[in-house]
Amino acid sequence: MVNWHDKFAERTTYMKRSTIREILKLTQMPDVISFAGGLPAPELFPLERVREAFRAVVEHYGPQALQYSTTEGINELRDWVAARMSRSGLTITRENVLIVSGAQQAIDLVGRVLLDDGDLLALENPTYLGMLLAWRPYNLRYAVIPTDRDGLLVDRLDKALIRRPKLMYLVPNFQNPQGVTLSWERREQLVECLAEYGAVVIEDNPYGELRYSGSDIPSLYEFDASFRGSHSLDGHVIYAGTFSKILAPGLRLGWVVAPTAVIDKLVQAKQSADLQSGTFAQYLAYEVCRDGFIEGHIERLRAVYRRRRDLMLAAMDRHFPEEARWSRPEGGLFLMVSLPEFMDTSELLKEAIRHRVAFVPGQDFHVEGGYNTFRLNFSNAQPDMIEEGIRRLGQLLKEQVRQPV
Ligand SMILES: Cc1ncc(COP(=O)(O)O)c(C=O)c1O
Repeated sequence: MVNWHDKFAERTTYMKRSTIREILKLTQMPDVISFAGGLPAPELFPLERVREAFRAVVEHYGPQALQYSTTEGINELRDWVAARMSRSGLTITRENVLIVSGAQQAIDLVGRVLLDDGDLLALENPTYLGMLLAWRPYNLRYAVIPTDRDGLLVDRLDKALIRRPKLMYLVPNFQNPQGVTLSWERREQLVECLAEYGAVVIEDNPYGELRYSGSDIPSLYEFDASFRGSHSLDGHVIYAGTFSKILAPGLRLGWVVAPTAVIDKLVQAKQSADLQSGTFAQYLAYEVCRDGFIEGHIERLRAVYRRRRDLMLAAMDRHFPEEARWSRPEGGLFLMVSLPEFMDTSELLKEAIRHRVAFVPGQDFHVEGGYNTFRLNFSNAQPDMIEEGIRRLGQLLKEQVRQPV
């Protein structure tokens, strides 16, 4: 028998499975109410529109839709993305757009072209687990920037940027896992700092269009261009977008918008990763989204998710003990709960599963601390499940929070 462990490459020692994906297996027991996943609500997938688009793709594009296509992505979709993202007086062109297999691939490719082993990464704590896992093989060092309810504390940025990080990673809107959003003023300050230090940031924005309250705030790439008085995309921001939360994650499609020098390098990396994202999926996404359909669809998503967020927050107000604290996101899919420091939410999860309710313990989203936090998802549970699940969780928390071990 081959001992494969002797054969694996050195870098694989830094790889590990996503704990969330492992927890999800546990929570799929039939009577467990799970707030653990990060899934969009499947009942809201626009099946009828997809069916029509499917036919249109076959009829319109025929064999071309089943053929290899360019690494950059099909022109129809790149133009659509470019037009949609040309805002705040900025003109984004097809050359600024790379179609990728989800924002996760954008993260992976950006890592391949920008990160060397042992590089310094500036990041929020907690942050997106999928990024931490993707970049683990680079054995990075972290310049951690603390956050509060308005996102990262910009007055701590100097301390991080003075160390000259290679890259900064941010989820400015309804962050996964905390649900917090970087305020308008802080975005202005951030782009000033980027210019001062010549620093670059990847703006990962899967949730930006899912706002349920408050006013929209422009993206970092828009702030960056307006700070530099530029009408083209030649600044400090690499933007990652995705169809996963506004259309369907199973299509595995997203996009990168960046200066052309970055796109050129990412294309080289993507060529060796997977040649291209699926031609058929790209035509399908284009047919579904074009002529404004997607804007109406996003409105429908917002209405349903807003209600679920409100129900969850109201149920938490009723059932959770006063020792617990939680974020009140203005959009997205998640919120985060903090418990007194003596509590360990990985242990709590075992009890929670016995009470037939589940969440994701917070530690893995953190590069330091976080063992007393957990993440809740509100998009993928029916209203009556939200009330009952939060009631069960509140009961457990009340028992546990008052009996330190
Ligand atoms: C912050 C963040 N980035 C990227 C992704 C990956 O999204 P995609 O399905 O587009 O690969 C997710 C998915 O949950 C996410 O929360």
